[in-house]
Order: sequence, then C-alpha cells, then structure tokens
Amino acid sequence: MKLAVLPGDGIGKEIVAQAVKVLDVLKGEGAGIEMEYGNIGGAGFDAEGDPLPESSLKLARAADAVLLGAVGGPQYDQLDRPLRPERGLLRIRKELNLFANLRPALLYPELAGASSLKPEIVSGLDIMIVRELTGDVYFGQPRGVEVRNGERVGFNTMIYSESEVRRVAHVAFAIAMKRGKKLCSVEKANVLECSELWRDVVAEVAKDYPEVELSTLYVDNAAMQLVRNPKQFDVIVTGNLFGDILSDQASMLSGSIGMLPSASLDENNKGMYEPIHGSAPDIAGRDIANPLATILSLAMMYRYTFADMATADRIEAAVKKVIAQGYRTGDIWTEGGNKVSCSAMGDAVVAAM
Ligand code: IPM
Ligand code: MG
Repeated sequence: MKLAVLPGDGIGKEIVAQAVKVLDVLKGEGAGIEMEYGNIGGAGFDAEGDPLPESSLKLARAADAVLLGAVGGPQYDQLDRPLRPERGLLRIRKELNLFANLRPALLYPELAGASSLKPEIVSGLDIMIVRELTGDVYFGQPRGVEVRNGERVGFNTMIYSESEVRRVAHVAFAIAMKRGKKLCSVEKANVLECSELWRDVVAEVAKDYPEVELSTLYVDNAAMQLVRNPKQFDVIVTGNLFGDILSDQASMLSGSIGMLPSASLDENNKGMYEPIHGSAPDIAGRDIANPLATILSLAMMYRYTFADMATADRIEAAVKKVIAQGYRTGDIWTEGGNKVSCSAMGDAVVAAM
C-alpha cells in the first residue's frame, strides 16, 4: 500500500500523527505500508509557494490512497484567491477526479449526551451522506468578482452535467443497497434548473436499483428534517454545495464534528481520506484536538480502497472501545468523562488495537 500523507495546516499535523501511530501498529505486524509526506494548503504555500505543489500532486497520483489532515488558517485569508489553502484542497479533489464524497454521521451510544439534540432523537443515528465533490458551484464557470454598472458584483455558476449526476447517483444507490435500501436525493428543484436535471437523472438511475426506495427533498426541508427526525434517513445523495452544508449539520447530531471521517473516491475506488472538520487554528498546536475522525478515516480507507474489511472493522472497534472506556477529548467531553489530549487519545486507540 502506497500512501501519500498530506497533514496540511493547523490541527492537521497533530491528528494525522495519531492516525500514523495506528498505521505503525499495522506495519509492525507486517503490513506493507509505504508512507510519503507532502505539503498541501497553507503548508504548501509556505514551503513551495503553491497550496497544491506539483510534488504533492505527483505523490498523490502515484499513491493508492491519500491521507489528508486539514487546510486553512487566518494568516492565508488575504492571499490571492488561487493561492489560498482551500484552493489546494479543491484542486486535488478535481485533479484526482474524486467525485464521490462519503460522509457518514454515526452516533456512538456513549456520546448521545454530547449531541446538541435530545438523546431520543439521535440515539441509533446512522446516516451516510454521499456528496458530489468535483462539480457544482464550486467549480462552475464563469465565476468572479467584477464591476458592472458602477458597482461590484460577485457571481458563480451552479452547473451539473447528466454524466456527473449519474455517476454519483450510482455510487449512492450501490451504498444504499448495502445498507437500509433507502436513498434520499436532496436538491432545490422548485427553484433551480440545475436541480431539476439532478432530480430527473437520479430518477433515471433509480430504475437500475428497483429494491432501493428513492425519495427526494428540497434542501431547506432536508435541513429541517435532519434536526427534526434524523433517523428517517439512511443514505442521502446531494450536490457539492448542499452536501457541504448538510454534512456539517449532520455532524453535530453525532456529538462532534471531531468524530466524523470521510472518503473521497474516484471511479476505481482510489481515495482521499480526511476528517470532515477543518484546521481549527484556534486550538492548533495545543494537543487537544480530537484525532478520532482521522483515525476513522483510515478505517474507511481500508474499507473502500483496499477492501480489507477486517482491518477496517478492527480500527472502528478500537475507536468504539476507547469511547466505551470513557476517553474524551474536549469536544466530546461531558461530566464524568476522562479528558485526554490528542496524543493520549491516539495512544489509547493504539492500546485498544
Ligand atoms: C469541506 C470543507 C471544504 C469544502 C473547504 C475547506 C474548501 O468545508 O471539506 O467540507 O467546502 O468542501
Ligand atoms: Mg465543509
């Protein structure tokens, strides 16, 4: 297994270091894992003047999978747009054609108290959000800020081709088949033509999956349903922008955004694995971040890229165990929990392995 490791910025370095401890355990047992490090985001800009240096892209292309921490920081906010850390992340997604972004929102029973919703609403929660990741308003042209009629206007283009919708819909239906066989497609077809096409194409693809029950929701209603009765959902498929927003929202149901991993896959299940949270500059370097989302991203890597379910299960079981043992980083800590640092949490997972 060749892994490109791109820690990025802020807490990215600390959390990736904990995931690497887990990989080191597996290596120690004889697993053939090769890791090579590269820069991305602000770290790429600082070291090589580019948020996605050519060297990192090369590394990622040559690897079987990419492990990414997080990008961004206030010190980069004034840079020209193409040099900003987030652009590096968007470019690597696009360059590697990672169009299917899998974002599970899963509640560990012991963390029900850390959720902002009542335990009875979230207990047993297990949702998979499939977010399209290489299209939509994130990449659509034209885009920009310019002066028209004496004032500045900002504009972006929401655009999807039917092939883009079709391929991510297939991924979502296939995942639904392996789970509860329910898929909810989220769009805004009452207002947006782009969403109308999305809805029509998803309905066409549904014909290939007669066993899956397909429903559709407008994104505003979906946002409401996610906090009203989140357990009605099994798999959600949606576009890049709506998926960005709804996956952050869903993360809170599970107690903390610090718990949620993600996989971004291409047509051949090559993938990039990253926590869904950001670089959290406010707590960076203090060894208090939650590394579990990154460690759980490794489990997704074993599951989706390497089809090694046993190792995926083992990593997930280790995380479940440390949660059951009461280890808590600050973000998931509640009265009575054993508050631990980022590195101590990593060590606890290693011990549980
Ligand atoms: C995410 C992040 C990114 C996104 C940012 C950092 C560009 O919010 O992965 O959800 O909007 O996709
Ligand atoms: Mg986001």
